[in-house]
Amino acid sequence: MHDPDAPARALARLYDLDLLDDPGDLDLYLALAGRVGGPILELATGSGRLAVPLAEAGYDVTGVDLDPAMLDRARAAADERGRRIARRIRWVEADLRGLTLLDAGSYRLAFIGLNSLFLLRDRSEQAAAVATLARHVTDGGLVVVDAWLPDGEDLGRFDGRLMLEWVRVDPETGHHVTKTGAALHDHATGVVRLTTLFDEGRPGDAPVRWIREDRLRLIGTAELRGMAAEAGLVVETLAGGYDLEPLTPLSDRAVLVARKP
Ligand SMILES: C[S@@+](CC[C@H](N)C(=O)[O-])C[C@H]1O[C@@H](n2cnc3c(N)ncnc32)[C@H](O)[C@@H]1O
Repeated sequence: MHDPDAPARALARLYDLDLLDDPGDLDLYLALAGRVGGPILELATGSGRLAVPLAEAGYDVTGVDLDPAMLDRARAAADERGRRIARRIRWVEADLRGLTLLDAGSYRLAFIGLNSLFLLRDRSEQAAAVATLARHVTDGGLVVVDAWLPDGEDLGRFDGRLMLEWVRVDPETGHHVTKTGAALHDHATGVVRLTTLFDEGRPGDAPVRWIREDRLRLIGTAELRGMAAEAGLVVETLAGGYDLEPLTPLSDRAVLVARKP
């Protein structure tokens, strides 16, 4: 029987399989929360990869996402850690664009992690997302944005060629999964169109293919600084990685940490 939600559910599961390569960003959020305390707001929280361990560390967390399949996984991951932890997290199914929660202005830390800002269409939507983070923190609260900075070599590969990313066994299904993808970068707009193919099945059986299409609007460091300033934030650090190391021309990501004065 046709299940219209099956692709979204599969892609949410495969997102977690993809993220078995730990980006290494959790310690940053734990350290910042250790500094300013909770509650914490995460926009585009996905499957709760960061929100759940932050709650496990004792913080009250609100995770916002518009994809119910991702939130279902987030909820399940929190429930697995036990009621005490699950009760510290509020999952909000909503579009972050234009979002104002009832408790806006009360968060000590608000962030959008792991390139999720790129999923917003253009500069104005991305700036609005930074303003949303700013609107939700208290005076003295921190806002964090984490954005990948691809170099010329990365972008050179984004010419539509198909690239094998990995072959893994999904521990949840026992299926072999092959991830391939092709990206196309438009220099004029800074937009990368990403097509990802996940082929999964038991060895020897015909695989099932799940397709994911993403549109990423890349962002530069000057733009990120500008968005923080427009949102009334004071930039504490624009770092080159999760250890808040200095940003250099070789940095492959920008981590903005800004304070609401
Ligand atoms: C790359 S995942 C990141 C998940 C999580 N932050 C992490 O680091 O693992 C991006 C998430 O952003 C969500 N998203 C995209 N656009 C959104 C929007 N306008 N409002 C809320 N969530 C959005 C998607 O549903 C997806 O779950």
